[in-house]
This record gives sequence, structure tokens and C-alpha cells, in this order.
Amino acid sequence: MGQTLSTLAYLVSSVLFILALRGLSHPETSRRGNMFGMVGMGIAILATMFSKGMGFGGIALVIAGLAIGGTIGTIVAQRIQMTALPQLVAAFHSLVGMAAVFVAAGAFYAPMSFGIGTHEHIHAQSLIEMSLGVAIGAITFSGSVIAFAKLAGKMSGAPITFAGQHWLNLALGILLVILIIAFVATGSGVLFWLIALLSFALGFLLIIPIGGADMPVVVSMLNSYSGWAAAGIGFTIGNLLLIITGALVGASGAILSYIMCKGMNRSIINVLLGGFGSEGGAAAGGGGDADRPPVKAGSPEDAAYMMKNAQKIIVVPGYGMAVAQAQQVLREMADLLKKEGVEIKYAIHPVAGRMPGHMNVLLAEANVPYDEVFELEEINPEFADADVAFVIGANDVTNPAAKTDKSSAIYGMPILDVERAKTVFFIKRGMASGYAGVENELFFRPNTMMLFGDAKKVTQEIVQALQR
Ligand code: TAP
Repeated sequence: MGQTLSTLAYLVSSVLFILALRGLSHPETSRRGNMFGMVGMGIAILATMFSKGMGFGGIALVIAGLAIGGTIGTIVAQRIQMTALPQLVAAFHSLVGMAAVFVAAGAFYAPMSFGIGTHEHIHAQSLIEMSLGVAIGAITFSGSVIAFAKLAGKMSGAPITFAGQHWLNLALGILLVILIIAFVATGSGVLFWLIALLSFALGFLLIIPIGGADMPVVVSMLNSYSGWAAAGIGFTIGNLLLIITGALVGASGAILSYIMCKGMNRSIINVLLGGFGSEGGAAAGGGGDADRPPVKAGSPEDAAYMMKNAQKIIVVPGYGMAVAQAQQVLREMADLLKKEGVEIKYAIHPVAGRMPGHMNVLLAEANVPYDEVFELEEINPEFADADVAFVIGANDVTNPAAKTDKSSAIYGMPILDVERAKTVFFIKRGMASGYAGVENELFFRPNTMMLFGDAKKVTQEIVQALQR
């Protein structure tokens, strides 16, 4: 394939990748977006395979890689549980990081194949690009491995901190810069591997102090790093598409991290310095406080009766719904209530669950109509005229302490104003707090009724009561 044709194919792929990102920004268009991405990647692979200089051996290797990687990817995608997606994404990022290290090593040891000089004399610009690629790639690799281990429960999600940690990281960061400068000046192989080693250690040290619950932000940030690493490598090997795709991934990952931090009212620096977020969430007061009003617990039958007689119900899904996989039965409940003439709307908080779009994905999986699903700003004014706020496995995203308690870890986070509804139901297993470890005073309000139990089981019981 001629140079012009392959450049044109790369351009088409780039446009398709941009359309993919645009499509993925809304559940209604996300399938189409995914399709654009797949076609774009298909064109990119074909253009690379048939580009000048790729002999039969090269094509065979690419096909073998595709077959092995594609098979593993298909099996993993079919088996993965929705709740395990964050750790899967972290695991995949580690591979992107490792790939950047390998491509940089390939370019370093075979510079002539990439037209970046000879073994003794690699162009300075290429040395800069490959050292950045290997450093960012290695940090992404070890950082993502730790993120995976924390999210998958293979190691404790609690922050691992020790005295002088930030100073050590700073010193290692400075040492890394010095090594990169020395490498660019000398082109030494030893320095290349020292950069890789130090970066692996730095990735590990940077991520261990971060609490398991902050991991989604970190994963999205590592995603951004992996994009920049790929773009750096794209410059080294002179591949236009890799530069564009890397920049797209880098920028979108950075924007996503920003959106998540904003949704939690945390600064990215605060997340990266770590030490926040306990693993399971501390137990809340438990209703034992003398000056606390008692908690009112109800039965699924009570809830079914009240909801049947309501006019408007706003459903607020949260992390517990994902854990219980209650989305399907929730939709069944909504269908039954709609038959009774009840208006149902769903309220989505930007950081409900544990990853961006978590609730949207689950509701879409259960075929909840998109026009019933509303973002926080749109739905908040409607709680005041709702008869019931049906909070299923959500906690922090409804906690009014975010508005009133300056000392609270979630102070300033925008929340769903569920307490304005006439009655608030909370489905959860006990009195434990959510991810931020903050007690929710709504549990003790007179217009709140707790429905204790697993979200799926309780909702199933409500469905049965509605059918009677
Ligand atoms: P959380 O505040 O974490 O509360 C979830 C609640 O679900 C828990 O209190 C838990 O109480 C309950 N639960 C767990 N398993 C359950 C089950 N099987 N059945 C019924 N209930 C169950 O969740 P949220 O309101 O969705 O808020 C999300 C939190 O995660 C926010 O603080 C947010 O900042 C943080 N976060 C989000 C993201 C993204 S991007 N979404 C990323 C990082 C952090 P019990 O144990 O009593 O059942």
C-alpha cells in the first residue's frame, strides 16, 4: 500500500475514533460509538499490515498476535461481571503501559527499522521521545497492576503510607529526570533500563498510598498516561495514527479524571496524595446514639402499598444496586407501578457507583427507557413534588452532610435532594456508611423508611407484593 493511501486510511480511522468517543458520551449512541471504534481499529490494522515494508513474516506475526489477543479478549469480555469492570480496565491499562516499554525497547535496539538513526547514533529527538515513552509506560504498568490488585481485592484497598513517602517519591522523580537527560546525552543502554526500572518502582510507590475507593480516578488517570505514552512512541516510530489515538486517549482520560474529581468535590492533587477512603466504609451510628431518633424500618409489603398509591416516584440507584445486580428486577417493579398509573423517573448522580456511567450502563442493560433517566441538575428540582424517593443501594450521593457539614469528607459534593420527597425509602443491608465513610443522617429522619436487606432480594419481594 502506498504512503498516501495508508495516510488516508489512518485519517479515516482517526475520524472514526473521534466519532466513537462522541458516541460513547450517551447511552443511546454508545453502541454506534463502539461500532465506529471497532471499524476504525479494523482499518488501522489493515493499513498497518499492508503498509510499505511489512513483509509476509510481519503480516503473519500481526495475524498471530490478533488471533491470540482476540481470543483472550473475547473470553475475558464474555466472563466478566459488570461489577468487576474497573479492575479489568486497570489490568488492560497495565498491558498498554508494557506495550509502550516494549516498543521503546524495540526502537532503541533496532533504530534503523524505524528510520531514527543507527545503533551508535540515534537522533536526539527520538531518544527524548523513547525515554518519555518508556518512563510513562513503565509507571502506567506497575501503577495499573497495583490498581488492579486493590480493586480486585487481591491486596488490601486501604492506603499504604509511611513516613517521608512524598519526599521519597519527589527524590525518585528528580532522579528519573536526571537519568532521562543523561540517556539523551549518551544513548546508553544501561541508562535506558535504569529509567525503566526506576519508573516501575515509581508507579508502584505512587499508587500504594491511594485508597481502594479512589482507584477509579487513578485508573482514568493511568488511562490518560497510557495515551500519552502511546503518543510519545508514535513520534518515535513515525506513526501518525498512534500519535492521534494516543493524544485522544490521553486527553479524554484527563478530562474524565477531572469530571470524577469534580463530582466528588476532590482535587486531583488530593486524590494523588492518597490516604483517603477506607475499604468497606465504617459503620454509621447504628441508631444507638441517645440523642438520635430511632430508625424506622419497614417491610417490602409496606413499600409496595405506599408506592402503588403514589403518583410520582424517583428512583435513585447506587453502588449497592450494582453489587446486588438488582437492575432487572428494579425495572420489573417500575413496569408494574407504571401499569398502576405511577410516574417513574430515575435520578443519576455523576459519581454513583464506582465508575463513570456505572448506573447508566446497568439501567441500559435492564432496558430502562432513556427518557426516564435524568442527570442530577435536571432531576433535583423534581424531588419536592415526588411522593417517594426510592433509594436503592445509594448512600453518599444522597447525604445532606455534603451541603451542611464543613468538616465532612464529602462537603461540597453536589447531592441528590431525596429528602425533599414526601417519603424516602432506603434499600441497604444495614446501617453501614458508603464509600466516603460518612454517616448519613437521612436514615434517622421521620420521613425515611429503611428497607433492610440485599437490594435484589428486597426489590423482588416488593414485586411479589405488587403482584398480589
Ligand atoms: P455508596 O455511598 O458507596 O453506598 C453504597 C451503599 O450500598 C452502601 O452504604 C451499602 O450499605 C449498600 N450496599 C452494598 N451492597 C448492597 C447490596 N447487596 N444490597 C443493598 N445495598 C447494598 O454508593 P453511592 O451512593 O453510589 O456513592 C458512590 C460513592 O463512590 C461516592 O462517594 C463517590 O464519590 C464514590 N466514587 C465514585 C466513583 C465513580 S466514578 N462513580 C469513583 C470513585 C469513588 P450496606 O453495607 O448497609 O448494605
